[in-house]
Amino acid sequence: MLEFVSHSPEETRRVGELLGQLAKPEDVLCLYGDLGAGKTHFSQGVAKGLGVEEYVNSPTFTLINEYQGHYPFYHMDVYRLGDADDMADLGYEEYFYGEGVTLIEWADVVKEVLPDSRLDIEITSLGETERQLRFIPVGSRFENLVEELSKFVHTGN
Ligand SMILES: Nc1ncnc2c1ncn2[C@@H]1O[C@H](COP(=O)(O)OP(=O)(O)O)[C@@H](O)[C@H]1O
Ligand SMILES: [Mg+2]
Repeated sequence: MLEFVSHSPEETRRVGELLGQLAKPEDVLCLYGDLGAGKTHFSQGVAKGLGVEEYVNSPTFTLINEYQGHYPFYHMDVYRLGDADDMADLGYEEYFYGEGVTLIEWADVVKEVLPDSRLDIEITSLGETERQLRFIPVGSRFENLVEELSKFVHTGN
């Protein structure tokens, strides 16, 4: 597990960018945190790290936005989904096990369908501009990824 305290939206985006640079096709990144925690800022960083040049905004109403970087980037916001059943209608398996990197905001809504290999990222607000980011790997691919990431992220520990 890796823990990091961000002190600004830019810092949160920068950490996302580092993760985006390390991400590979079939990676599933699951974001948890309340409204305004910083999930979309983090996602914008991931997109940048993946080489996406388009502006990335929250897909709250569209559920999913697709971008093209070095790989496809599937940005989901499942807040408005009732539960994991609705996720089947979305054809989520084609994204999870496809050619690109998937990122899901509000992943707890669809926890039943999340893959056994994934990276959980919890964002908690500690104050106006302080956010705690916790990276919890599930499966060996993400244990390695978090170890890589920790070489680039300075936790102050
Ligand atoms: N350290 C920080 N990291 C990310 N966002 C921050 C931070 N400090 C303040 N903020 C603010 O919190 C809000 C986060 O918004 P957003 O990324 O859309 O959150 P979410 O997608 O989780 O609802 C923005 O208004 C942003 O300016
Ligand atoms: Mg958001």
